[in-house]
Amino acid sequence: MPAIVLIGAQWGDEGKGKATDHLGDRVDYVVKFNGGNNAGHTVVVGDEKYALHLLPSGILSPGVVPVIANGVVVDIEVLFEELDALAARGVDVSRLRVSANAHVITHYHRTLDKVTERFLGKRQIGTTGRGIGPTYADKINRVGIRIQDLFDENILRQKIEGALHQKNHLLVKIYNRRAIEVDEIMQELLQFAERLRPMVDDTALLLHRALDEGKTVLFEAGQATMLDVDHGTYPFVTSSNATSGGAATGSGVAPNRFERVIGVVKAYTTRVGSGPFPTELFDESGDFLRNNGGEFGTTTGRPRRCGWYDAPIARYSARINGVTDFVLTKLDVLTGLETIPVCVAYEVDGVRVDEMPVSQSDFHHAEPIYEEFPGWSEDITGARRFEDLPKNAQDYVIALEKMSGSRISLIGVGPGRDEIVVRHSLTD
Ligand code: GDP
Ligand code: IMO
Ligand code: MG
Repeated sequence: MPAIVLIGAQWGDEGKGKATDHLGDRVDYVVKFNGGNNAGHTVVVGDEKYALHLLPSGILSPGVVPVIANGVVVDIEVLFEELDALAARGVDVSRLRVSANAHVITHYHRTLDKVTERFLGKRQIGTTGRGIGPTYADKINRVGIRIQDLFDENILRQKIEGALHQKNHLLVKIYNRRAIEVDEIMQELLQFAERLRPMVDDTALLLHRALDEGKTVLFEAGQATMLDVDHGTYPFVTSSNATSGGAATGSGVAPNRFERVIGVVKAYTTRVGSGPFPTELFDESGDFLRNNGGEFGTTTGRPRRCGWYDAPIARYSARINGVTDFVLTKLDVLTGLETIPVCVAYEVDGVRVDEMPVSQSDFHHAEPIYEEFPGWSEDITGARRFEDLPKNAQDYVIALEKMSGSRISLIGVGPGRDEIVVRHSLTD
């Protein structure tokens, strides 16, 4: 099972970290290929809880080589904070490899992220404020700073001067902020350069060789399909490709090497930040999901918007990503509900629409059409085989499977590492 991609099928926070951790001892490399420290993955191992942002969740598995590939945007200070915090808790972080081509988040990207959001007013995206969008914008505008630039001071200075020449006009004249000095940014980046140097690599070549040797490589997406800059609910998206195609461009591993695509999907839906969300709940059912599911952001602590499962979105994700297996997480959170509504289609201007509407405006006012399923009250956190689940829970899973475009291979029944029901192995 050489190259496996693991993606979020909804709006993020589906439990990708836990799913990666579950695969941990069966993979040799775990690669982060998109996003940066906007991600927040919580992994619970025994009594220990880890919150990972920039590092791939595989770093918690002994023996795994974690890789930050070219498609990632790296806040170097955050990188070392996260590495040091893990090392202090006894995690071996020595194997981390970082692409020389990954782009670097600086002080001016974080500042621009925050001020542009403020200026958007009611139209704001609700970003994590980590500088993600401005850093990807610089990459596309060909004025970005890459990891490799840190090892050539002349080049680094020229690039920062070029970038600030334009940014300071914006900051001072449009946003009424102070200008940023070139030396400030030089200092911000160079203070870490020597510590970073031994980790920097041609990660595309590294992964290519690993796959040639028959190693198993897991590509772990940050964010999710509906936050993908091309396939998500634009403009209420993140600035990278969080879908499976992003694993190829974001790592330099060719598409024909990927053999399996794992879609992680919650048994209901959540979203952080602005943008359309047809099944969103504003009543006590929403509070039930938020409180029972602990739906507060790992990165920003914001309460997550909550709603019922949306089957057209799962089907859309299955198609866009080529999902071969779904991991259905947080089934336990639904315990205690008398009935569980599932969105099976939408109504747009009085017309039934079975798939994601073509136009974003239609999606904004799509009304969910629900089918109701009977709930269960038994505690399911001890279930390890499908047969251990109450009949109604089994029926709910089977119904979702039929509607969602791919088989459900794993079912999460609690946050812990072992709280999982395996229906089909993800690595056979
Ligand atoms: P990620 O960003 O996709 O990695 O997901 P997050 O870590 O941001 O959010 C998922 C949350 O759900 C975390 O707090 C996990 O510990 C928790 N979690 C994952 N799977 C399950 C599950 O099956 N049941 C419950 N109750 N919690 C889960
Ligand atoms: P994980 O990997 C949920 C959301 C933000 C905002 C939008 C753009 O934990 O699933 P950005 O800072 O990326 O420019 O913000 O995307 N967002 C996430 N929502 N989970 C995430 O990551 C997210 N990363 C970004 O809330 O709406
Ligand atoms: Mg998260």
